[in-house]
Amino acid sequence: MSATLGPVHRYDELASTNDEARRLVGQGAPDGTVVLARRQTGGRGRLGRHWFSPEGNVFLSYVHQSRHRPEALAGLTLDAGTAIADVIADLGLEPALKWPNDVQLGGRKVAGVLTELVTDAPHGQAVAIVGVGVNVALRPADLPDALRPIATSLDVEAGQAFDPEDVALRVAARLRQKLAGFEATGAPDVAAYQRWFAQLGQRVRFVDPADGVVAGVVQGVAHDGGLLVLADGAAAPTTVRAGEITPEEPA
Ligand code: BTN
Repeated sequence: MSATLGPVHRYDELASTNDEARRLVGQGAPDGTVVLARRQTGGRGRLGRHWFSPEGNVFLSYVHQSRHRPEALAGLTLDAGTAIADVIADLGLEPALKWPNDVQLGGRKVAGVLTELVTDAPHGQAVAIVGVGVNVALRPADLPDALRPIATSLDVEAGQAFDPEDVALRVAARLRQKLAGFEATGAPDVAAYQRWFAQLGQRVRFVDPADGVVAGVVQGVAHDGGLLVLADGAAAPTTVRAGEITPEEPA
C-alpha cells in the first residue's frame, strides 16, 4: 500500500504531527509527505481544543501542495473527512459525517481533521497540512470524563482490534486519491461527502457573525463545502463556512 504514498516519516512521540509536517515543509518536503506518530504530547484539535493522543491510535499529518488559492483550501477538509469515512466503511463499520469533518460511529466521534495552511512555504506554494486523528483503541475507561459520552473508537464499535499502522496507511492512501481529485477541480467532492453526511434535516444552532447564535434546519452542503442552513424565519439558506454546528437539544 505504501507504494502509492509519498515519503512516510514515523516517530514514537511528537508534540503534534502537524507541527512536524510544517517543519518538514520548511525543509522542502514534497507533496504527499506523511508524518505518523505513535503518540502525541500536544495534539491539537479544531477551535483550539486539545486532542487526546495516547498510543494505539492514529496521529497522521499529510502534506498537500496545491495550485489553488488558499481560500479554496478549506474545501480540502471535507474531502479528508470523506477519505476517513471511506476507510472506516471498508473496515466494515457504518461511519457518519458531522459537518465539516467529524467522523462518527453510533453518534460518537471516532475521528477528526485539523487542516492548517502553511503561509511561508518555500517557493510561495500553497501548502495545506491535513492532520488526522482516528481513535482506534480507546475504551471508555481510557477516556477523560469529558470525552466519555461523546467519543468512541474503532475497536469498541467493531468488537475487534485494528492495527493503527494499517489504519493510518489506508487513510493516507485514500487521502492521496481524494486530494488528487480536489486538485483537478479546486472543490471538494460534495457528492461523495454526502454519502456519509448525517445532518440533512437536523435542527442545529450556529454562530452567525452578524446575528449571534442562530437556530435552523440543515439543508445540505454547498459546492464549496459550506453548510447550508435555513435559519428560522429566513427566506433563503445561510452558508456557514466556519465554527461549530451544534445539534439542537429536543425541548
Ligand atoms: C478535531 O478537532 O476534530 C481535529 C482533530 C485532529 C487531530 C489530529 S491528530 C494528528 C494531527 N496532529 C495534531 O496535533 N492534530 C491532528
